[in-house]
Parts: sequence; structure tokens; C-alpha cells
Amino acid sequence: MSTIAVISSDRTMTGFVDKPPADTNVRREDPITSDMAAEDRTSWLASLSVDVIVFGPDIEVDVVLESSAFLRTSRPEVDCIAVCEPTTDFLAKAMSHGVRDVVSPSKGHKELREALRLLDEAAAIRSSTRAEARPERGTVITVLGPKGGVGKTTVAVNLAYALASQVPGELVVVDLDLTGGDVADSLGMEVASNVSTVVGSGVVDDPTSLKLSLTSHGSGALVLPAPTSLVEAAAIEPEGVQHLIDQLTRMFRIVLIDTGPGTSDATVAAVRAANEVLAVTTPEVGGIRTLERHLDGYDAVGFQRARRHVILNKEDRRSSLTREDVEAVLRRRIDYVLPYDRNLPAAANEGSAYLEARPRGSVATTFAALAVALRGARVPAQSTERGWFR
Ligand SMILES: Nc1ncnc2c1ncn2[C@@H]1O[C@H](COP(=O)(O)OP(=O)(O)O)[C@@H](O)[C@H]1O
Ligand SMILES: [Mg+2]
Repeated sequence: MSTIAVISSDRTMTGFVDKPPADTNVRREDPITSDMAAEDRTSWLASLSVDVIVFGPDIEVDVVLESSAFLRTSRPEVDCIAVCEPTTDFLAKAMSHGVRDVVSPSKGHKELREALRLLDEAAAIRSSTRAEARPERGTVITVLGPKGGVGKTTVAVNLAYALASQVPGELVVVDLDLTGGDVADSLGMEVASNVSTVVGSGVVDDPTSLKLSLTSHGSGALVLPAPTSLVEAAAIEPEGVQHLIDQLTRMFRIVLIDTGPGTSDATVAAVRAANEVLAVTTPEVGGIRTLERHLDGYDAVGFQRARRHVILNKEDRRSSLTREDVEAVLRRRIDYVLPYDRNLPAAANEGSAYLEARPRGSVATTFAALAVALRGARVPAQSTERGWFR
């Protein structure tokens, strides 16, 4: 039995509401309009306990698009259908905003019933594969690199972009570079909440509020950026960060964490929680040695639960260190190489993921390979841990 909300006061919807398809529970909801505050609309939509939302022909097109884009990331289990003229322009926008089907009002209710039947079939398939495939907790991927400027944020935002389309609404990026995080800027996002506004507040314990505190990016990723001031950052307790990560793993399939330089409590929490660690270095002796010391340190305290992937970034043929030299200094194998490409800083300055503008650019293959390796990830067994810098 699926529950369907028909958001409309248009009388053409009356016949459908009065004679609902078999095995459905249909109810009518008052129309939403662009006059309402956007936050009121979204919090009301988020609270609807339904499987499908049908937007009637009286709902403004922009409101339909905005609402389904919001639902796609905050309530991905809810399907949206728009009853409106399927112009080419609207169809193109509808797809990218997560509208699952567009039904012409002139076609009567037959087409709407058929659209619902197809959604029902798709939902049944989705839920059976999810029940098999979904691990109880999401995978935590932590991007690590104790030197500043080696490319952690670049890796985090582009990987988020590469992975989000595979799991729209089920990937969250958390910026734990508490004093200098620039994930939101790199993605050109305006954000309301950040790590400091949720950690230590009741928001973390309430999945709906926590989800509403995240900002959605066009790629399908949700983002929780770094605090906006050092005072806010300083007030964050390490236990709060651990609890935040823990809660997010209950809500999302992938929790992707960007970290800051050096070793902070937040970085330690992110490494401790990680199933996958992406260790980033550039081909410079100082940076490689620093990374080596940190990886040795994490090994020494028993943080070996995660699979580790070493990324050599900004590789340049003119560099005096070859890949083999880097491996020798690091005493570890390099798993992925990203070439130096001046379009990467240009993309970050423009506030967009490089892969968005250049899906076939120099680093695209490496990110695609990383995305495949990480999506196939299994959660390794727990290890015993001792403390770390405490
Ligand atoms: N492969 C690359 N080629 C050229 N520039 C890069 C590359 N990777 C990162 N950068 C640039 O280097 C600078 C530092 O990268 P960033 O990702 O912010 O490092 P971190 O987060 O480790 O401090 C940024 O300007 C970024 O655009
Ligand atoms: Mg950074």
C-alpha cells in the first residue's frame, strides 16, 4: 500500500482523489505557492509522511521544480510526479530536478495511474536491492594530508562530485578543517548551517533537523561546511565531532570528510571513524616525510581498520622526484596519481568542481577509478585502538 499526497486544489484532480488506484491511500493537500517562505515550504514537505507526491496543474512550475529538487536530496525515498504540460523545456528541467514523471493534465487520470504503477514497480525493485546491498552504517571516507595545500579539498570536492551522481541524496560532505575549511567556497555554495551550529546542539540527535541543516549541491551531494569563525571552531568539543560522524553514518550511505593540515582532534576523530582513508601528498620531500610520520603514528595507535589509498597529487614530469622516489621516501605504494593541472585552481576559484566543467579533463580517469574502488568498498573488521595524542 503506497501513500500518495496530491498537492492541488484544482478540480481536475477530484476524480483521481475520489477514486484512487487499488492498494493506494490518496489524500489531498492544500496547494503551496511561491508566496510562502521557502523554508516553510521545505519543512512542510519534509514532514509529509508519504511515498509519492503529485503536484497538480495549479502549482507554479518553479515551485514544483524547487520542491522536487529539495525532496530528491532530503527525502530521496519520496517520488514526485508533476501534472502539467510536458513542454521540452519543462521536461529537461524536470529531469535534472528529480521529478520522476510528468503527466499531461489533458490526458485524464489514465496516464497518472500508469505513472504511479511504474513508480510502484521501481520502488519495489529499489527496496529489495537496498535491503540486500545496504550496509547498516554508511561508509566513512576521510581525506587526509597533514601538509596544507597538497590537494585534500580538491580531492574531496571532486570525489563528492564523482560519487554523488551514483548515490544522489545519500552522500554528505563534512568539512572538518575547522579553522580553514573551504569546501563550500570551492563548490560556490551559500550555506546557512555549519559544523559548529550543529555539533553540541540537539540538532545532531534529530535526523530530520540534521538533514535540514545540510545544504544540497547540484551534484546530489549534501554539504556541512566548516565554521565561519575561529571562535566557533574553538568551541567544538572532540566528542561532539565523533557523535556527529556517528549520526551521519546512520543516515547516509557515504560520509566524505575533508580534514585540515596537522593533527587536530577533529582529524583524529575522522581517521578513527574512517573505513577508507585517502592519504594525499605532493612530490616534495618535506610533505612526504610529514605524511609518512602521520601514517606511522596512526598505525602505532591501532588505526588500521580503514583501507588506505595513497594519492600522489600535482605530479609534474619536470619534478625532481619520480613516483618511485616518492614511494621510497613514503615507504608505501602510491595507488593513484593526479597530474598537475592549472585548471584545478581555476575551477576552485570559480566555485565549481573541476569535473563538472571538464568531465573528460586530465584528472577525470583517476577520479572515476577512485569512485569505483570506493563504491565497491566493504566495511573491514574492527581493530583494537589505543588513544591518540590524549
Ligand atoms: N593536481 C593539481 N594541479 C594543480 N593545482 C592543484 C592540484 N590539486 C590542487 N591544486 C591547487 O592547489 C591548491 C591547494 O589545494 P587544496 O585542495 O586546497 O589543498 P588542501 O586542502 O590540502 O589544503 C589549490 O589552489 C588547488 O586548486
Ligand atoms: Mg583544504
